[in-house]
Amino acid sequence: MAEWTKQLKTGQPVAPPSDADASLFGPLAGEVTGLARTLTRVRAAAEREARLRLRGESVWTEERLKQFVQMRFGASPIFVLSNREPVSHVRDGAAIRELQPASGLVTAMAPIMFACGGVWVAHGSGDADRIVGERIGLPADDPAYTLRRVWLEPDEEAGYYYGFANEGLWPLCHIVHERPQFRAADWAHYRAVNEKFAATVLEEMERVESPVVLVQDYHFALASRYIKRERPDARVALFWHIPWPNFEAFGICPWQEEILLGMLGADLIGFHTQFHCNNFLETVERTIEGRVEWDDFAVVRGHHTTHVLPFPISVAAEPEERAPAVDDPPAMLETPVEFLGIGVERIDYTKGLPERFRALRRFFERWPEYRRRVVFVQLASPSRSRIPRYQQLQEEIHEIVRRINDEIGEWGWQPIVYHERHHEHREIRAWYRAAQFCVVSSLHDGMNLVAKEFIAARDDDDAVLILSRFTGASRELRDALLVNPYDIEGTAEAIHRAIEMAPAERRDRMSHMRAHVREQNIFRWAGMLMSELTRIPRGDRPGVTAAPGPS
Ligand code: F6P
Repeated sequence: MAEWTKQLKTGQPVAPPSDADASLFGPLAGEVTGLARTLTRVRAAAEREARLRLRGESVWTEERLKQFVQMRFGASPIFVLSNREPVSHVRDGAAIRELQPASGLVTAMAPIMFACGGVWVAHGSGDADRIVGERIGLPADDPAYTLRRVWLEPDEEAGYYYGFANEGLWPLCHIVHERPQFRAADWAHYRAVNEKFAATVLEEMERVESPVVLVQDYHFALASRYIKRERPDARVALFWHIPWPNFEAFGICPWQEEILLGMLGADLIGFHTQFHCNNFLETVERTIEGRVEWDDFAVVRGHHTTHVLPFPISVAAEPEERAPAVDDPPAMLETPVEFLGIGVERIDYTKGLPERFRALRRFFERWPEYRRRVVFVQLASPSRSRIPRYQQLQEEIHEIVRRINDEIGEWGWQPIVYHERHHEHREIRAWYRAAQFCVVSSLHDGMNLVAKEFIAARDDDDAVLILSRFTGASRELRDALLVNPYDIEGTAEAIHRAIEMAPAERRDRMSHMRAHVREQNIFRWAGMLMSELTRIPRGDRPGVTAAPGPS
């Protein structure tokens, strides 16, 4: 045991002696292992900070965000509200497995909570969540924050999540020619569930003065208003992860006014782009009473002001020390391949998967010399599968992939390798790193974090990103090959160009994008959003008379 603890002090992750478990020292060994892990992380973060300072860089890091939050909010925890939980527990035979959902929101928010601590309130949707617990520390091996789960009845989930959020608001906000469904019963559930989550947040922050609350996404258009109604002293930001349409498009929603008033309960509303902020402000101006201050990007109603600003979300350009181990994905292919393309998506009609596959087919038709030399691997994770439109899309995709592989494929070579299941982050990362090009062909997307994850996962510059011009990411990643995914010929040409691109150009483009993602990372996003939030004067807590300040 003594020898082992000495080795741990060097910072090397060494396993405890094999007989420790059975001995008196078993629990002690567990504790020391946890402590060593924490020390390694702290040491790595400090070393990274020091390296950046030496290079005179002012990149936002986990550590810098932590210090910033401590300076601005002291020991006060941060509260996050989202529908999707950062970790689900699912049954796997007799065992229970931890699963990180395929969600850009989770990818973005998890590192922030890891850095800042606090309470994350979310829907407990895993089939083993109730067994594991309502309030748990995460990450399980070294908790940095608390996950507070909210349980939903099946009819609540059907009306609020599948119904109003995903058959109503989702197609309403994305321009993909999918007709939104507005059912009064879904709307009633949506309101009730927003109240329910708001009540849980209020309960969690009962003893905290002037709490900071970060409400996430279109599932919670009303929650900010419910929270501020009870706690005017709270500083509430709502971040809308999807696009905001123009006011005519939004105008078809029968409950548009209530949605806008609910959102305007927040002190700050964030979108990915200025364009979506402008659409939102114009919708407000034409729909409800209130003053839009265009020079300040704010809405004033009575005594309350809501600021509306762009915060392009990002990923943590992961420090090497926490980077997950990498598998050998090419070994998962039947034969070695000269050019590997990759796509990673939830199966969603906004992602342009059929269009992408048609473009691949066209590419192989126009440039047959690349048959047998190029393979495109698509990782597709099933999503919202209870909604008929999603089932229909899944079938459509199966059919397209089958047809292309039948008609273009040859013995020993399949142009498209389609893996439909949930994929762990470490697996996805391995594919990102092995690929020569990645295709993101969303028909409309608020940001699209797959594009940024692909770039962040690389430690070389030897790859090309093909990116839809209808994503928020395309406003930042100008060195990607930008495509209109509806234009099949154009996308096929981009695939051809990616494969034939001269190494110097490839490196030039990729190194610019890597530098951009490294600097404009998720810690910066959180820092910018929270610093904007602290500029906003806060109200008083009801029942508490504010102490007179210095005159
Ligand atoms: O894009 C909006 C969003 O909520 C993301 O933030 C997230 O990546 C995705 O949808 C996940 O969808 P769901 O939570 O329904 O699986």
